[in-house]
Amino acid sequence: MIGICGASGRIGYDSYELLKSKYQVIGTYFRHFRDGLIKFNVITDSFTIFDSCQYVIITFICGGRRNMFKYGYPDEELCEQSYLKTKDLLVYLDNKNINTIFISSINVETMDDFYTKYKIKIENLITNELKHSKFIRPGRISKYNVRKLSEEIFKLII
Ligand SMILES: NC(=O)c1ccc[n+]([C@@H]2O[C@H](COP(=O)([O-])OP(=O)(O)OC[C@H]3O[C@@H](n4cnc5c(N)ncnc54)[C@H](OP(=O)(O)O)[C@@H]3O)[C@@H](O)[C@H]2O)c1
Repeated sequence: MIGICGASGRIGYDSYELLKSKYQVIGTYFRHFRDGLIKFNVITDSFTIFDSCQYVIITFICGGRRNMFKYGYPDEELCEQSYLKTKDLLVYLDNKNINTIFISSINVETMDDFYTKYKIKIENLITNELKHSKFIRPGRISKYNVRKLSEEIFKLII
């Protein structure tokens, strides 16, 4: 079983569709229901939804493309909350020997704001403290190149 936290998003849903061709997949949505997904709020809900997974793909929920366009650039408080809960989720899964892939961003290499600061903190947690986790740093993702990224994620899981 593969889990995708943030499966209703641009990257999450494409990966969900691709992974479904080979694996059983649990994908979550928060505000935007899409077929087959389960409602999950990382800030308030129990992480046990992912207990039966061998792999979980995790997006940084406060900073997705659609959230920025629709709800504005995330404020620092939301980013911090998102960081703390993403961290809790990663640690929770690591303690259960469940593998995780965190979707970071190439922006961490050039930008210096609180959004990228929290992503770097998660990357550091993964590098220094977790045994079963890795991160990737995609560049700009559009509908034209999202499948290529999903295929890279797919290969990481095999
Ligand atoms: N798109 C890019 O160009 C790009 C490039 C590099 C890196 N990235 C990174 O990749 C990640 C995903 O990007 P994306 O473009 O796919 O973002 P997106 O389309 O905005 O998706 C964000 C996902 O997070 C979910 N989410 C939001 N709040 C949540 C909460 N409280 N609890 C649980 N889930 C929540 C959203 O659910 P709902 O939509 O259902 O509310 C959605 O599934 C982000 O970390 C982003 O920084 C994106």
